[in-house]
Amino acid sequence: MSMEAPIKLGLIGCGGIARAHLNACLQLSHLFCIVACCDVRKEMAEKFAQSAGGASVFTDYREMLSHAEIDAVDITLPHHLHAEVAIAAAEAGKHVLVEKPMANNLAEAKSMVDAADKHGVTLMVAQSQRYMAEHREIKRLLEEKTIGQVLYVRASVDQHLASIRPPNDWLFKRSLAGGGSVISIGVHKIDLLRWLIGEIVAVFAVERQSPINPGMDCEDISVAILEFEKGVVADLASLYAAKASPWGELMAIYGTEGVIHNIGGWHINSDKVSEWKGKFVKLEIQHEDPFRNELEHFGNCLLNGREPLTSGRDNLKTMAVVEAIYRSAKEQTRLSLSEIWAT
Ligand SMILES: NC(=O)c1ccc[n+]([C@@H]2O[C@H](COP(=O)([O-])OP(=O)(O)OC[C@H]3O[C@@H](n4cnc5c(N)ncnc54)[C@H](O)[C@@H]3O)[C@@H](O)[C@H]2O)c1
Repeated sequence: MSMEAPIKLGLIGCGGIARAHLNACLQLSHLFCIVACCDVRKEMAEKFAQSAGGASVFTDYREMLSHAEIDAVDITLPHHLHAEVAIAAAEAGKHVLVEKPMANNLAEAKSMVDAADKHGVTLMVAQSQRYMAEHREIKRLLEEKTIGQVLYVRASVDQHLASIRPPNDWLFKRSLAGGGSVISIGVHKIDLLRWLIGEIVAVFAVERQSPINPGMDCEDISVAILEFEKGVVADLASLYAAKASPWGELMAIYGTEGVIHNIGGWHINSDKVSEWKGKFVKLEIQHEDPFRNELEHFGNCLLNGREPLTSGRDNLKTMAVVEAIYRSAKEQTRLSLSEIWAT
């Protein structure tokens, strides 16, 4: 189902990250016109509607779906609402962009894909890391085998939840967020690694709950060993218990002929390029706004009737890895992804 620009968009959820989506849409006025803003906090919906130049205001997404003249919705809500709202939007014939993680769990994510298929609408997951210029460049370097064959990847996302969110925020609760640091921030790297390295076939994970996030009822420390289809192995630390961090987000990729890392910016060391041989050299990569790139991709896919890079269907595989990490930690065993798909 393709359409004409500008696409009439409804924003559902006018909190933290929605501001980045709003700003991106305002820069992409040839693609999007924000016609409705919805938040249970009416003042937030009003603020967004005003920034969008006078969009309609809603406090109930169902009202918005039935009354606003919209082609698509952009869902930036707590995780437990992603599936419910995306399915309602698909049933109303609206295309859907939904923030990461796709849903609280794989079963919910599958029902979102089924609803989008049934109603012939596009479903895209806002996995912003795949829309970063830096990661696009790293993917190109890996595809050109600049560091040879990839052997091993080390990745970490370090945050301290209690320092960045108010007490009792929904991110502290398994029922509202689907889990802790794995589903909320580790998911960024799981999705990125799938894109850069290939599909993950097995995981082994350990998780802990630290004492430094009072009121949290799920993991704030997780370490997962990820095995990829081509024999590559990675370790991923998802930390909501990092009081401080040397890197914030770490990625180090070890190949047969070099290494790439992102400590203090992206660096490369490669036997294959004389100026990069025997030392790390900083890569000059022009930063781009990933949210602008992501929204632009969503808009272009709707106009051209194309499946997005981070489609709902694609992101089932990211959700399956999240599920495998949780099950592996709980069962204290190595889990093959085929066991996740079989259940
Ligand atoms: N891509 C990224 O880098 C990135 C960064 C941060 C958050 N996120 C994701 O964005 C999503 C939102 O996170 P956030 O940090 O902006 O959360 P937030 O708590 O700041 O915002 C959520 C908003 O949803 C509203 N809301 C709650 N229930 C509602 C309902 N039933 N109907 C309408 N509005 C409702 C809240 O009032 C709030 O304004 C999450 O999926 C999160 O994981 C992504």
